[in-house]
Amino acid sequence: MVIDVATIGEDVPLLEGIRTACAIRRLRPDPVPRELIRKVCEAGTFAPSGGNRQPWTFIAVTDPERRSWFAERYRRVFASYIAPARRAAESPDYPNAQRKILAGALHLAEHLHEAPVHLFVAGWKRRGEPQYQALYPAIENVLLACRAVGLGASLTTLQQAFQAEVDAWLGLPETQPTCAMLPIGWPAVKHRRPVRRSIDECLHFERFTPR
Ligand SMILES: Cc1cc2nc3c(=O)[nH]c(=O)nc-3n(C[C@H](O)[C@H](O)[C@H](O)COP(=O)(O)O)c2cc1C
Repeated sequence: MVIDVATIGEDVPLLEGIRTACAIRRLRPDPVPRELIRKVCEAGTFAPSGGNRQPWTFIAVTDPERRSWFAERYRRVFASYIAPARRAAESPDYPNAQRKILAGALHLAEHLHEAPVHLFVAGWKRRGEPQYQALYPAIENVLLACRAVGLGASLTTLQQAFQAEVDAWLGLPETQPTCAMLPIGWPAVKHRRPVRRSIDECLHFERFTPR
């Protein structure tokens, strides 16, 4: 497949892209050109940040052995994290929407090593505390840019459970902790409108009105 990195994704209407940027956890193993990784990360750099500090660092891990190293640890943490949900899902009353998320998250964990790009986003600390919130606008921009160029992506934060080990493995200084890891690749399923509560349930004018 020949990709024109300069033009790909440039014609997707912004709001339509936002409405269809669902989490894609089923990815094909085919490689993603570095120039395209650069393009979606560049979209991240246009995010707002406090005082325009621009605290983000992006590290794209593509080497298969390194991806396996990370995937193995992710899977281990995921197994204990997801155990209560798996037990709950044995009940026939378990909501279908939750069941779908669970299945997708399980698939991602089992196939994480196959995702061609593990994109780590690292930030900064204030008074010794990681400022993760400073990175989420940039992370969302990357997710939206992936949607625009046709890449599948999702947001994971489980690496925070073995933060120090991952950060050392990535060569990050202690002052720049990782916040998230986005598995990115060509999607094995289509982008679609995700299930959401109606805006009319969430929007209030002037004052909160219990509904
Ligand atoms: C702060 C945050 C942390 C998340 N961590 C994970 C994660 O560790 N693993 C995962 O599979 N999804 C993770 N997600 C993704 C959510 O599960 C996903 O956004 C949600 O299921 C909605 O998906 P949809 O847009 O396809 O409906 C995270 C999302 C957020 C905002």
